[in-house]
Amino acid sequence: MNRNGLEKAVVSVRGVKKMYPLGKTEVWALRGIDFDLSRGDFISIAGPSGSGKTTLLNLLGCLDTPTEGEVFLEGVSTRSLGDDQITDLRHQVIGFIFQSFNLIPVLSVRENVEFPLLIGTRRRPAPDQQWIDHLIEAVGLSDWRLHKPNELSGGQRQRVAIARSLVNRPRIVIADEPTANLDSKTGEAIIDLMKRISHELGTTFIFSTHDQRIVDVADHVIRILDGVVVENSLASGVML
Ligand SMILES: Nc1ncnc2c1ncn2[C@@H]1O[C@H](COP(=O)(O)OP(=O)(O)O)[C@@H](O)[C@H]1O
Ligand SMILES: [Mg+2]
Repeated sequence: MNRNGLEKAVVSVRGVKKMYPLGKTEVWALRGIDFDLSRGDFISIAGPSGSGKTTLLNLLGCLDTPTEGEVFLEGVSTRSLGDDQITDLRHQVIGFIFQSFNLIPVLSVRENVEFPLLIGTRRRPAPDQQWIDHLIEAVGLSDWRLHKPNELSGGQRQRVAIARSLVNRPRIVIADEPTANLDSKTGEAIIDLMKRISHELGTTFIFSTHDQRIVDVADHVIRILDGVVVENSLASGVML
């Protein structure tokens, strides 16, 4: 194991395999994955449908556990953590953005963004209203903050989801095909917005996509095919 990589990396994946039982057969969605991701980078997990992107992101986000191998977040093996610690990680270290936005229809834009601050296992300080308004402004929705999700376009809904993913000041944001339900122009605008915010806040963004046009915006591309890494490269052209 590369200890150096582990110390510097915000996320490290070592020998990760994932098997889903399917009746009497086994589906090996990931067949031995290794990589390190650096803090503050804008990272794309690229690959066609069925290559294992969602499976991999679910492991990085501690929504599921590997069949073999280990995921390290900030140098800590997620295998070594108990359920409460995993829950805390999911609330405090990691933000999520979903393909289908997953907004709460009865809440306004502002309430949707605030929502993660109101739930969780620990007693919390009162939500920071200025921070919520700053995030809504950063995603360009100040004029829409009292509107409900069904009054917004798809691109606007995904902007709400981006603001919501950042409200806990996570160090890592995970987005599983955040542009899959958007037209290509809106999708490119959403990726540009995520990249700008990632650099402004120093947040590590990891997004999956099967769209080559938005892969090109990433600082670091990990391409997977049939559950193995087939490319691991930086925008500078360096192959890892
Ligand atoms: N819950 C599951 N049970 C069985 N097979 C699954 C399950 N989830 C995913 N798979 C299979 O694992 C492989 C990778 O799927 P997935 O991670 O969803 O890929 P992607 O997100 O790149 O489309 C596919 O062959 C898929 O059919
Ligand atoms: Mg998927």
